[in-house]
Amino acid sequence: MSRVVVTGRIPDDGLEILRTAGEVWSWEHDEPIPVDVRNEQLADADAAVTLLTDRVDDAFLDAAPRLKVVANVAVGYNNIDVAACHARGVAVTNTPGVLTDATADLAMALTLMVTRRLGEGERLIRSGQPWKWSMFMMLGAGLQGRQLGIVGMGAIGEAFAARARAFGMRVVYHNRRAVDAETEARLDARLVGLHELLETSDVVSLNCPYSDATHHLVDEAALDRMRPDAYVINTARGPIVDEAALVEALRDGGIAGAGLDVFEHEPDVHPGLLELDNAVLVPHLGSATVETRSAMARLAARNAVEVLAGRPAVNPVA
Ligand code: DGY
Repeated sequence: MSRVVVTGRIPDDGLEILRTAGEVWSWEHDEPIPVDVRNEQLADADAAVTLLTDRVDDAFLDAAPRLKVVANVAVGYNNIDVAACHARGVAVTNTPGVLTDATADLAMALTLMVTRRLGEGERLIRSGQPWKWSMFMMLGAGLQGRQLGIVGMGAIGEAFAARARAFGMRVVYHNRRAVDAETEARLDARLVGLHELLETSDVVSLNCPYSDATHHLVDEAALDRMRPDAYVINTARGPIVDEAALVEALRDGGIAGAGLDVFEHEPDVHPGLLELDNAVLVPHLGSATVETRSAMARLAARNAVEVLAGRPAVNPVA
């Protein structure tokens, strides 16, 4: 009989699947699990189901000598020291696929919000200030005929590209390798170098994983390459953007705006961003639909169950 520790609240259908593997203990609160409680529970755990707010490092693994699998309820796994897990024979899994549409929807929503100044408009109405329609009030930028530059053409990048095409945008992308010819043709997307993407795109969307290689990929130099009427959208991970440099670029007119779902020091947000009308800020809601969070929990649970049964994980992280 296996013991599974779930380090935070997840939807019940995930817990039900986990119960087929054995005894399940879960932290049933929204605030983070205290380290001493976590370590006590991990002492005889065979599987840990983790959230992106958990740091799975040597300290975590030291507390869990029996662990066979860490099943992260997220597609991103930068919160996990994968090498340290593998060195101890602990499998790592994630939840790709099931959050693709929700995250691409959010990227599209942020793009519309920032280009059409919807956050500003909402704040104006809620402020109670008098307003009336006028020809030049809060003019934004249309998307038709504009270029979307996608950095990281995985499943989410492709899904966002498809949405942007429906809004009349053309697509270029930067990726380690070209996507298959059928996808390029379907999206009418062209592979370009990062510099060309930054210099020619009206909207630059970050859809790549976070790693040492993508830390501060959008820094002062990258922002300098962008056009003053261009926008940055980040639904990937906060530290891909140098937030201080972004604040300067937004403040000085280096770029037109930014739509951010993720932050460099999450949950803290650079105070400069809070003052800027051309920044749309939402609290890491990319996968936050009822259906998606349930699907993520179920997939993470299936991953844990498979490994505990001695079978290959559905979504192993290599
Ligand atoms: C993920 O799965 O990595 C997302 O950031 C969760 O919303």
